Amino acid sequence: MAFPPEFVEELRNRITLSEVIGRKVALKRKGREYAGLCPFHNEKTPSFWVNDQKAFFHCFGCGAHGDAIGFTMRIEGLAFPDAVEKLAQDVGLAVPVATPQERERAQAAATLHTVASLAARWFEQQLRMPGGRAGLDYLHGRGLSDDTIERFQLGFAPDNREALQATLKRDNVTEQQMVDCGLVIRPDEGGRAPYDRFRGRVMFPIHDRRGRVIAFGGRVIGPGEPKYLNSPETPLFHKGDNLYCLHLAREAAAKDRPIIVAEGYMDVIALHVAGFDGAVAPLGTALTEGQLALLWRMADEPYLCFDGDNAGKRAAQRAAERALPLLTPGKSLRFVGLPPGEDPDSLIRKGGRAAFEAALKDARPLVDIVWEIETLGQRDDTPERRAAIRAALRQRAATIADPVVRELYRTELDQRFEAAWPRFRPTGQPGRPGAGPRRPRVVDRPFRREPSLEDMAWFRKGAALATASHDLDPGRREGLLLGALLLHPAWLEVLAEDLAALPLTGTERERLRAALLEAAAEVDHPDPKEDVAALEAAAIARHLDKTGLTAMAEALRQEAIKGFAPSEPEKGARERWRREAESHRLAFGEVSELRAAEASYASDPSEANWERLQALLEQSIRSARTGGNGG
Ligand code: UTP
Ligand code: MN
Repeated sequence: MAFPPEFVEELRNRITLSEVIGRKVALKRKGREYAGLCPFHNEKTPSFWVNDQKAFFHCFGCGAHGDAIGFTMRIEGLAFPDAVEKLAQDVGLAVPVATPQERERAQAAATLHTVASLAARWFEQQLRMPGGRAGLDYLHGRGLSDDTIERFQLGFAPDNREALQATLKRDNVTEQQMVDCGLVIRPDEGGRAPYDRFRGRVMFPIHDRRGRVIAFGGRVIGPGEPKYLNSPETPLFHKGDNLYCLHLAREAAAKDRPIIVAEGYMDVIALHVAGFDGAVAPLGTALTEGQLALLWRMADEPYLCFDGDNAGKRAAQRAAERALPLLTPGKSLRFVGLPPGEDPDSLIRKGGRAAFEAALKDARPLVDIVWEIETLGQRDDTPERRAAIRAALRQRAATIADPVVRELYRTELDQRFEAAWPRFRPTGQPGRPGAGPRRPRVVDRPFRREPSLEDMAWFRKGAALATASHDLDPGRREGLLLGALLLHPAWLEVLAEDLAALPLTGTERERLRAALLEAAAEVDHPDPKEDVAALEAAAIARHLDKTGLTAMAEALRQEAIKGFAPSEPEKGARERWRREAESHRLAFGEVSELRAAEASYASDPSEANWERLQALLEQSIRSARTGGNGG
């Protein structure tokens, strides 16, 4: 839910920051501020300052800073709306609920939350009763201590059709609520009595991101089907948008611990016990898009664990295929391969924390898995078969929606292909995927002709212009860089990757970039005898026309004639383009990104926008410090 900005403002006004922080950190008054030991990094002397007037904290040691909401998010591992709700409760401010329907839904959910937590508590009690002996013995037998059993609130559902119903009824829970919560099943045919869903099972409560019980998984003791029985979809529980132990992993993520996805509940518990407190698991299904989004909010590159056997390999490939379309700059996955037949639980039992640590260290990037999907076991002994492999690699890259990531995947997979099956192979040896060293990236074409004296003069003038243009305004420089590529379409072949990394302001320019990259992809590796410039120009024109950007592109092209004249020697000018792009990225990228993030947060104070703004602020403070007076 988005909060009205006035409400968030009112909340900020009511809070005294030093009080909020004082509950977690011992603060000493120093003049008009407070100082203490920073809770976000290890330190012996205080460099953590709190200013009530500015309502901001700042750590001069690690750069952590923010307001009361940011502090609460970080220290409690909460999302923006949850931190707001918690602080509002502390100061007795009612959280606005937008519509009567929303209020009703919130009330019903609150009741179901209570039902779920009553059930969880009862299951826990049953585990400690004589009737729960079998469950307790089972858990002990799997190496879980009483502490662990308590920490994960494990319980036991007796083999009885109405024991839970009877208990909940005493707490004034209606039958309908029990059904809505997924705890009781009402048979379709009339007359038959409703019965408890979970019977004779060890119970694993499933929590939401705030740590409230919303569902259960129940494991049979001994053989039996199904091995795990899970709650159905309920108003509280949407399997695909949840992860087992997400609430704990969020806290771990706030401390920069690795986020690890295992397959089973027992694996997650074993990982937590071994100290990997960022472990989670999907809830009885393959990873969904919703779950990937949750993971990427906690970490840039979460680890996925799979068995070393063939089933594990297939599961890894399925996860990779699902992730590809969703990739964005910086977000990816790492794949942990376990020895055949092992899951994290069994691996840790045999080899302890160290064994899993080693597996994590050997984790492989997503692009490796993609490469394997299309090359492992493929026959490559004829040109047609090699061409098929290459086409399949291209198709994979094409499934990536983000144009920048897509372009970079295409080049990376191309390079791997070229390294595995070089085009000119003097020895005549057949290539093997993964064999031989990786070749350096795209090789520049040599000059098409010797540069003349006139060209050399241009080049020197260009170099001078490059140094002088450091203080060009970023919008203009951006335009110039795009214009230069429109002016010299053939450069795209070499500069596509740099273009992909260029920070741009405005969606129009981003669309222009996307059009250029699409054109570059189309004209990839043309016949050496063909005129690359003409091919590129035609492809660009097509894409510009399709997206209605032709007029804007023409203006940029005209503008670029001054900065990147057609008569300038190609290679020198291209290098200059690269340098300009680099200084643009360094000098203005951060700042414009920050401005944009501030603007989006002002217009939509959502959690995602808040997190982005915080991250950028931290980054800019860090780089200002390292780039500053050398301190
Ligand atoms: P596994 O069969 O690999 O179980 O299922 P596991 O976690 O290693 O279980 P133990 O060690 O035998 O107790 C992995 C996960 O798949 C889901 C559960 O979430 C389980 O933890 N699952 C499995 C089900 O939902 N239903 C099933 O019948 C089996
Ligand atoms: Mn297992």
